[in-house]
Formats: sequence, C-alpha cells, structure tokens
Amino acid sequence: MNNQELIARRLKTLGPTYQNFYDRPLHLVRGSGTALWDADGRQYVDCYNNVVSVGHCHPRVVEALCKQAATLNTHTRYLHEGIVELGEMLVERMPGDIEICIFTCTGSEANDLAAQVARHVSGQQGLIVTEASYHGVSELTRRLSTDSYPPEDRPDWLAVIEPPNLYRGPYHRDDPEAGARYLELARQELDRLEQRGYKPAAVMIDVAWDSNGPLLAPTDYVLGLCAEVRKRGGLVIADEVQSGYCRSGKDWWNCNNYGFQPDILTCGKPMGAGHPLALMATTRDVIDDYSRHYHYFNTFGGNPVSAAVGKAVIDVIESEGLLHNALETGAYLEAGLRELAGRHEPIGDVQGFGLFWGLDMVADRDSREPLSREQLRHLGSLIAEQGVITGTSGRYGQVLKLRPPLPFSRSDADKTVAAIDTALKGFSI
Ligand SMILES: Cc1ncc(COP(=O)(O)O)c(C=O)c1O
Repeated sequence: MNNQELIARRLKTLGPTYQNFYDRPLHLVRGSGTALWDADGRQYVDCYNNVVSVGHCHPRVVEALCKQAATLNTHTRYLHEGIVELGEMLVERMPGDIEICIFTCTGSEANDLAAQVARHVSGQQGLIVTEASYHGVSELTRRLSTDSYPPEDRPDWLAVIEPPNLYRGPYHRDDPEAGARYLELARQELDRLEQRGYKPAAVMIDVAWDSNGPLLAPTDYVLGLCAEVRKRGGLVIADEVQSGYCRSGKDWWNCNNYGFQPDILTCGKPMGAGHPLALMATTRDVIDDYSRHYHYFNTFGGNPVSAAVGKAVIDVIESEGLLHNALETGAYLEAGLRELAGRHEPIGDVQGFGLFWGLDMVADRDSREPLSREQLRHLGSLIAEQGVITGTSGRYGQVLKLRPPLPFSRSDADKTVAAIDTALKGFSI
C-alpha cells in the first residue's frame, strides 16, 4: 500500500487529532539498535526516539518479553517476584531517601498520581510548572502542560514560572546573577499564587525542561526553587520522564546532577524500551501518609510482562555501558554540533547534555528571532531526506531536538551532523 492510501485511511478512522512528523510522513516498518527502515527499504539513523532507550527491538528485551508473555501475565493483586525484583533494582539506583515504587503504564498516570499525592501530603492545592511545560494527557496533567492549551484557561491553583533558558529567556549565560534572577521571578509567581488563595502542594520540575529545550539550568536556581517551595510547605516532584534513565551520561537521574533530592520522582518512556512501563517513586513517609487514606491499583501497571521487560532494560543499560556511552558519544556529538553552529547562521544556540541536544534555530542571530514551526518542520524533513530522524521542541517550536537511543554511536553522530549540514545548505529562511 502506498503512503497516500495509508494517510487517507488513517485520517478516515483516527480523525485529524493525530499528527505526523515531516512534510512527507514516514512509514516505518522495522527497527534494530539505532537504525530504522521505511516501507521502501530505506534506512535511517534514529536520532530522536528516547523511548527505545536501549535501541529498537533489543534482542534481550524481546526475549524477556516473549518468555514472560508465554508464561503468565496477571496484575499486582497476586504475588509475583518480577515486580518486586524490578522495584528493588530501581530503589538501588534511586536518589536519596526514595525507596518506594508505584508502577503505572504512562508518564501521565505517574505525574497525575504524583500531583494527587503531593496535594494530600501537603494539605495544599497549588501546583507549579514552567511556561510551555509538558507533563501528560490526563485532566490534571493536561492542566500542568502549559504548552497544550491557551493561557486564559489556566486554573487559579496553577503557578506558571519562567523556564530558566540562558539563551532565549530574559537572563543569559553571560550574567553571573542569572540563576538568582530566575529564582526571583519564580518567587514573584509563588506570591501571586498565594494572593489567589493557594499555597503550593508541589513544584513539578521536568529536569530537562524538554519542551523548552532541552535546557541546562543554573544550579543555584534549581536548588533555590526547591528550597522556596519547601519553605512554603510544598513538595518537590522531579519529572524524569525525559531527563532520567542515564540520558545525562553522568547519573541515572538528572536531579542528582543538580544536587537536589526530590520527594517524588516520576519516570516512564525509557523504562520499557518501547513497552508501556512508568513509575512514581517516593519516600516511605510520603507513601505511609498517602496509604492511610488511599489504596492504589492499576490494572496493567507493573504486570509480570512489564516487570520482565523493565528488568531486562536495566540489565542491558548496565552490561552494555550505556551510561558511559551517553557521556562519551554525547560529547562527540556536541563537538560536531558546535562546529556546525560555527558555519551555519540559523543555529543560534547549542544547548543540552549527555545524549540530549537542542539547536535553537533563528531567523536572525542578533535579535534571536525564532524560526517558525513550519520552517523547523521543513528543516526536519530535509534532514530526514538525508537519512536521519530528528524532532522539534521549544517554546516557539524553534528547537531542533536530538535525543537518540542510548547505544547511539560515533558513526551515527557523524551521519547526523553531516545530514544537518547538507540540509542547512539547501535550506533558505
Ligand atoms: C516530561 C514529560 N512528562 C510526562 C510525559 C507524559 O508521558 P506519557 O506520554 O507516557 O503519558 C511526557 C511525554 O512526552 C514528558 O515529556
């Protein structure tokens, strides 16, 4: 079947709410490691999909999944060793006092539960997120996703703070006081929240500020924000859906790289390498308080097949040295991207960490006027034509996002840089 027919059938049955990447949507049929193939047999380097953290169709993950699926699949109301073992493996790798794992299927469910738990434990209702944040699709997490609906619909209990973007925000890298200034802006929003009658239950920090970047925030800002929220009686939730699971190349969790200890940590996407597995993790005190009032059951969250997959993913990350690869290959990719930025005017900024990079694309370097969403979509399409899959992000949709599976190699990085180079040569603003 050709792509036009499939697009028409998809539209007819799924409706217009689903979107496609690129001017010519890709019809992918096979994946292995960091490689993808389309229906015409064309091969691509995957420089975008972090969900398949250990690479597409990793044989050990597939084997673990098939073996457990052929043995038993139930839920958490029966005893099973798999979920306990996965929880123990995760707790060993958790920051600070986090020692309780609650499994869900999606990051949305994990964040929704995190916000509910924070409200219960703090006894307060206010929630704090950054401008252009994304935290999920449930009713509650949709409200926490300020990139997904118009500002006039924001509830009174929501405080929206400025993302700490040292390139595109009001305070820049060359300002030694930038962290303190972003913190002051956040304090002002917290004051306004309280004036509206809401004290904070929690701040939800996407530790990559992914939908704005990724960003590298000033450490004093991050630590100051956590302290400020706690002073006002709120909890700190680290949303590590994007930033965690070794993405930084330095630690399992990016909160450790900033030196802050969350009360609740959430994760999802990379945990199951393509299988729906997500997590809300917290301290014993928090869960004891919550459990006195509520029980938790999620039909599919933490089932034996998911647990087998989750354990296999952790084994692969560690036995294949993927944390170290994220650091090493990430630095190599960064060098290539910075070299490109030296030659291509539209690359206004290179920002990121580990295997997570964003090119902030501009129409004009002096004014930093962002490229439009349509221009970025077109650029992404040109890069895909060169055989490399990338994504977009940013407050104005102006960031070219590179966030590959963790086994990304130097040769993949070379192909990516060459594809962006060629695409930019054929790209006019
Ligand atoms: C930072 C962040 N949090 C939460 C979510 C929601 O996760 P899910 O799509 O698994 O519900 C996402 C998804 O993109 C995300 O990027």
